Amino acid sequence: MNKAEVLAKVLPDVTDVVASAEHFAPSNIALCKYWGKRDAELNLPINPSLSISLRDLGTHTKVTPLDQPVDRVILNGHEMHPETKFAQRISRFIDLFRRDSAIGFLVETRNNIPTQAGLASSASGFAALTLALNDSFGFNLSKEALSMIARMGSGSASRSIYQGFVEWHMGHREDGLDSHAHPIDIQWPGLAVGLIKIDVGEKSIDSRSGMQRTIETSHLYNSWPAQANADLAKLHEALNTHNFELLASTAEHNAMSMHATFASSWPPLVYWLPDSLAAMHKVWQLRQQGLALYFTMDAGPNLKLLFEKSSLNDVVSHFPEMELVLPFGE
Ligand code: DP6
Repeated sequence: MNKAEVLAKVLPDVTDVVASAEHFAPSNIALCKYWGKRDAELNLPINPSLSISLRDLGTHTKVTPLDQPVDRVILNGHEMHPETKFAQRISRFIDLFRRDSAIGFLVETRNNIPTQAGLASSASGFAALTLALNDSFGFNLSKEALSMIARMGSGSASRSIYQGFVEWHMGHREDGLDSHAHPIDIQWPGLAVGLIKIDVGEKSIDSRSGMQRTIETSHLYNSWPAQANADLAKLHEALNTHNFELLASTAEHNAMSMHATFASSWPPLVYWLPDSLAAMHKVWQLRQQGLALYFTMDAGPNLKLLFEKSSLNDVVSHFPEMELVLPFGE
């Protein structure tokens, strides 16, 4: 089944009157990672995942209909050549909504997180674009449907429709209508995330290709879905009992397990740089000295520290370069 066939099931039969619309969506960091697709066209995952949204860090996107059949994409103030992968990915996504091929869009998108740096800008990008297009076309879709559609742009975008803790239910249907995210109604005002930017250049292997290579070649991948499901259960327990050590240690173990599947791919996929490893060792050393500090990492070299606000001064003294995010506000 392709994306257009799925969209035909959920989009209302409305006019093609479109207006300009603007939306923000937060970036998110998975505590239990999405890694591996059972359907690469629809981004249907092999395992469920759970994330925390980064509040004000993310993507603002404005869409404005044009009287011409081509789209224009402006990323962080720079117009992208229509042939770039980025502009084409956006145009193909708009095609899913577009009824009248004579209507192009000016898409102005601005990230306040580094693009392509393992800080999940595609997640907030496709979520913001989905929300903006929904308003522009006047579709009035439910959050569930929006999450499901954003997923088809980028899997992790399904979670960026919401703030706070979010779970993406993997679903089982072939058309993926049951594969979307839900917010988890738990607040954790004391939770802090620290972004450690090791390298913010474009990564060499994107998540899509990385997942594919891991599934095809890593002998460790077979054990990943069971690990992810067990971690998800632990994360729920940690959330329900407000147990920081359980939450953060599960997230770190989950990330390390995912990276182990990368490393055992062929050719090997190692996203860590020497400075990533140095920062990881520093976290482990500080933990041995009694600081409740953990990290998670995505398919990139950067670390996302996890700690409680009460440890902020200690953490800042060891990682002064860290960018602090308080997912539940001050
Ligand atoms: C490691 O959502 O970027 O960040 O669906 O191919 O666009 P595509 O992949 P993407 O993968 C994110 C992978 C991850 C883990 C996660 O965010 O759950």
